[in-house]
Amino acid sequence: MKILLTGGAGYIGSHTVVALVDAGFEPVVLDNFANSHPVVLDRLTSITGQPVPLERGDVLDTPWLEDVLRRQQPAGVVHFAGDKAVGESVAQPLKYFHNNIGGAISLLRAMEAVHAEAPETAPTLVFSSSATVYGDPASMPITEDFPRGHTNPYGHSKLVIEDMLYALNAARPAWRVGVLRYFNPVGAHPSGLIGEDPAGIPNNLMPYVAQVAVGQRDHLNVFGNDYATPDGTGVRDYIHVQDLAAGHVAAIKALLGRDESFTVNLGTGRGHSVLEVVRAFERASGRAIPYRIAPRRPGDVAQCWADPGLALRLLGWRATHSLDEMCADTWRWQSGNPNGYRS
Ligand code: WQD
Repeated sequence: MKILLTGGAGYIGSHTVVALVDAGFEPVVLDNFANSHPVVLDRLTSITGQPVPLERGDVLDTPWLEDVLRRQQPAGVVHFAGDKAVGESVAQPLKYFHNNIGGAISLLRAMEAVHAEAPETAPTLVFSSSATVYGDPASMPITEDFPRGHTNPYGHSKLVIEDMLYALNAARPAWRVGVLRYFNPVGAHPSGLIGEDPAGIPNNLMPYVAQVAVGQRDHLNVFGNDYATPDGTGVRDYIHVQDLAAGHVAAIKALLGRDESFTVNLGTGRGHSVLEVVRAFERASGRAIPYRIAPRRPGDVAQCWADPGLALRLLGWRATHSLDEMCADTWRWQSGNPNGYRS
């Protein structure tokens, strides 16, 4: 069975390609390489031992998307493609609304057009959403019925796409839709051949710490140590990208196996502070991670972690990797690829 992955050459997408091959599916990568690199396809071939078909283009090109869907006839689509930098979304909201919401509309319209030609099929879609749709939750852990909100255009775009999917599914019960709300994806495939490769200065903690460890940055700025958390630094639910990829396979299998849509958190159910991550990375890398306490980052919440119970009940999925494994796998990727895919 073919599965089409929009943004499949990206960080989460590439790891999901490997997990799908391991599960016996035939992933097809659709990407314009706006935020990823063609060499990822070669790395995926090295890992899986087989070529990974590529459809090169932009999800905003609806006629081209229809052509891809007609030719590939995927059993399901996983929609990763989109922009994901919170800070950039504040500076460039139109880019985020256009690429993320416009891209989703384009994909959904292409899927609807092709479905009309084969009404006996059930359009099947997994959407890459984010815990950022919970805004600043009042308590922990977070369950899927928590109120949603947005604190930046990136999170707003994810929330709007979720609402589009819910409205579409209500109007088209034949569609099968899985919404996956990621918490904090980190780590890399144990081969060290694929991993997170942010452009420019990393916004996120783990890639920044990794670049300090490899000598690309001289210290980490810890954004605030006066939060109401055990050590005063921000607490997040870091989840290994391998667990996240496995969650996508479980979601695809659940959607193809029965006609019910769902929205689930993909997290570990436990939080770790910034300083816990720093210490874990020092253990994993054997390198010191110098840091300075800096002012709080606007928009940050003190703590955020998931109740992953629904994903276990619905998908039979749970995260299994520890923070130490997340750091060890990140370190293997970073030390083997100091400049990411550009090296
Ligand atoms: C984690 C913690 C920071 C960098 C964001 C998006 C979310 C998802 C993941 C896309 C916080 C602290 C960070 C640094 C630091 N992205 N930190 N120094 O903000 O929880 O989530 O990325 O899907 O949607 O909102 O992740 O890694 O940026 O921050 O002290 O240089 O690390 O304050 O407590 P965040 P993060």
